[in-house]
Amino acid sequence: MISKLHSYFFPKLVAIMLPLSLAAQLRGIPAFVVIPNTAPKCKVANVRRYGGHVIFCEPTMQSREETAIRVLQEIGAVLVPSSNDVRIISGQGTLSLEFLDQAPKLETLIVPISGGGLLSGVVIGAKSKNPAIQVLGAEPKGGDDAAQSKACGRLVSLSHTNTIADGLRASMGDITWPIVRDLVDDIITVDDGEILEAMRYNYEVLKVAVEPSAAIGLAAVLSDNFKKNSRWNCSQNIGIVISGGECGFRCSMGITFTDYQDVIFLEGS
Ligand SMILES: Cc1ncc(COP(=O)(O)O)c(C=O)c1O
Repeated sequence: MISKLHSYFFPKLVAIMLPLSLAAQLRGIPAFVVIPNTAPKCKVANVRRYGGHVIFCEPTMQSREETAIRVLQEIGAVLVPSSNDVRIISGQGTLSLEFLDQAPKLETLIVPISGGGLLSGVVIGAKSKNPAIQVLGAEPKGGDDAAQSKACGRLVSLSHTNTIADGLRASMGDITWPIVRDLVDDIITVDDGEILEAMRYNYEVLKVAVEPSAAIGLAAVLSDNFKKNSRWNCSQNIGIVISGGECGFRCSMGITFTDYQDVIFLEGS
């Protein structure tokens, strides 16, 4: 039985792509942002809104890396990785320090995982403040490389991923994997239906705009997987990191704008 659920809104994507684009724009420096061609339109539009130049790649780690290298070679740009970098990890770790300052009784923290930078920072920060805290990753079943890696004790990378959580399709690297392997207690996987249900709950109950990759922490806590696991379900105070709200109207409401007009028409008639 969970007595308290705390959430901490930490817009990770916004924390990297958008401020980077804006910071570069303010200094008159071009920022080139490599984005998978499957990213929702609003993510792409928001990067452009802040002056970033969007360069599309395929939604695979290989394509991301090859595209980034090509941009570096052609333009002479400096690479800002999204997760496998100690500076990114330590910056993201500050969120767990703030979270524990605000909610010191937290016993369990749940964090989305893709490349593992966010989770690595959080687990180092949280366990340095409270070594007894349990830190869990939340991952989509359609891109469960972290869960597979933890299960077999070596870094697994998937050639193909398939999930609505478009921000969680990357793999861990040589810096994030050992941290996740040694410090993270477990990885919970959920399917896309559970993620959608958590998005709906966020809108209807918490009134928060949350993208699929960020709703996954709540999806993990609400899953049977979590509720039936005696190591996890005994926590009385659970913290969930909600890591972004980059999702368009159609995706977030689950209905098209035309459907919405129909609803208004029907109700008014
Ligand atoms: C919204 C959102 N949450 C969480 C993550 C996971 O971050 P990481 O790649 O550091 O695991 C990402 C990755 O980009 C993301 O876009």
